[in-house]
Amino acid sequence: MGKWGVFYSSVTGNTKMVAERIAEASGEADLLPVEEMPEDLTGYEVVALGYWLRRGGADPKMTKYLPHVKNAKVILFETHGTDPGSEHAVTAYARAAYLLGDGCEILGTFGCQGKINPALIEKRKNSAPDDPHGGTAAMKRWKRAASHPDEEDLQAAADFVAQMKRKLIIMQKYREQKSIG
Ligand SMILES: Cc1cc2nc3c(=O)[nH]c(=O)nc-3n(C[C@H](O)[C@H](O)[C@H](O)COP(=O)(O)O)c2cc1C
Repeated sequence: MGKWGVFYSSVTGNTKMVAERIAEASGEADLLPVEEMPEDLTGYEVVALGYWLRRGGADPKMTKYLPHVKNAKVILFETHGTDPGSEHAVTAYARAAYLLGDGCEILGTFGCQGKINPALIEKRKNSAPDDPHGGTAAMKRWKRAASHPDEEDLQAAADFVAQMKRKLIIMQKYREQKSIG
């Protein structure tokens, strides 16, 4: 199995934590903040890109680098305040994928909640109760996010990597059989 490149953007450390677990579980990986991502990605079997959600999409730093990723097998991973599996979280993968350079194949996606920057909570604490960006529902959601990523999330990230590795083996076998047949 080849080396993985794990590149992430993280302000308060949630996405970095997940990136570290993904890199560890992959066996052999280069783990770097996305601004240090090498230009030449051809040596990586998988390019895993991790970002935090801002305004329903990848954060501004990752958004800048996504178009530089070309001709790669890509994993997208994200941390967010929203509930896992919500439409908001899932749509963000599509938004990030849309920004990738030519020739990329999405191998898989992983996401979990990440605690909200306390500065943002402070800023929004006097929002009207019906304000979707700081009202009662948002505060409840942010409370649910406050303990994440937790050990369960990180174990799920490691399990996800194991799944992706199995997928790579199956894809390889399929290609070999096709070339023989
Ligand atoms: C300015 C700002 C905007 C955010 N916007 C969203 C958003 O649109 N959707 C969401 O689910 N979470 C949003 N979040 C929550 C972060 O994505 C989440 O806390 C993430 O885990 C932070 O990652 P980091 O610790 O790697 O920086 C926002 C947080 C901040 C500070």
